[in-house]
Amino acid sequence: MAAVDSEFALDLPPPVSRSKAGFAKALLAWYDEARRRLPWRAEPGEVPDPYRVWLSEIMLQQTTVATVLDRFPRFLAKFPTVKALAAAPLESVLAEWAGLGYYARARNLHACAREVAVMGGRFPDTAAGLARLPGIGDYTAGAIAAIAFGRPVAAVDGNVERVMTRVHRLADPLPGAKPAIRRLTQALVPADRPGDFAQALMDLGAGICQPKTPACSRCPVARFCEGAAAGDATRYPVKAPKAARPTRHGTVHVAIRERDGAVLLRRRPAKGLLGGMMEVPGGEWAEGAAPLAPPPFAGDWRRLNVAVEHTFTHFHLILSVEVARVADFAAAGEWHRPAHLDQAGLPTVFMKVLRAAGVV
Ligand code: ADE
Repeated sequence: MAAVDSEFALDLPPPVSRSKAGFAKALLAWYDEARRRLPWRAEPGEVPDPYRVWLSEIMLQQTTVATVLDRFPRFLAKFPTVKALAAAPLESVLAEWAGLGYYARARNLHACAREVAVMGGRFPDTAAGLARLPGIGDYTAGAIAAIAFGRPVAAVDGNVERVMTRVHRLADPLPGAKPAIRRLTQALVPADRPGDFAQALMDLGAGICQPKTPACSRCPVARFCEGAAAGDATRYPVKAPKAARPTRHGTVHVAIRERDGAVLLRRRPAKGLLGGMMEVPGGEWAEGAAPLAPPPFAGDWRRLNVAVEHTFTHFHLILSVEVARVADFAAAGEWHRPAHLDQAGLPTVFMKVLRAAGVV
């Protein structure tokens, strides 16, 4: 009789190759060979730096690894320690965050750094302690606790959800299935090397267990995976249908100073979408017909033929762009010359506007 049959017939525990320990062991052995080298990761034998771990996790929340690879070292060069970040003005942090999107992250990052600075610059070393800080949710608390402090906790992001729902062929749709996925992941976290386990799952999700084309034949944990066994891994995760994204319309006014080509920018209110970031002046963004937005001052305003489009998480935006060349005068805002616009901290949507207007 085959070993697998007798094991169940005799009601013995599964062999280690198919148990929780087997899953972690196989995954970690693969990770030791195939791990991605990333600037925020400690090399084997190195002690992880909680500041770098925290910063990378916040940046990676809504941003691709490729973009973070570029922006992480730049951010660190500007704010090398959590105390340096706490001491910096919020505006300089928002400016350094420009282009990364989801700007509430930058405000929370700054608020969090200030709280940690008050604690002597040391991050709490448990998931529960970390989750009390601004901008740190369940996933991030788990990731930092495991990676920076070796706590045996799960860190479940979208990649890990995909891996786990496939391993267990979990048919409950997301987002309702999240608590179950968390429990299933937690049950697999090893006491030894939990941080590497978390990062190994991330690498597996990114490189092997990909959304459309999982490479089950190369997967180190395929023998633990019900989806791979059934050949239907791509059916998971099951997702509840999303509400359609509405479209909003608005108008922006690009005032170009004749003397030197500088453009007029102003700061958005601290609260709300893109709160505290710089913007090209404009009116409200509303669903339905484009609302009329009076220009910030009288001038020879000309509408561009092409609208600028940008997609935010909860809506799609179509902006019509009006441009005027103006003489120098004291306007309500700040003039920024095109050569220095990368230091203005302008969100991507407004960079698109300036590109459409031919300013950059
Ligand atoms: N995505 C989220 N956190 C990550 C990490 N630490 N490494 C790689 N990808 C990630």
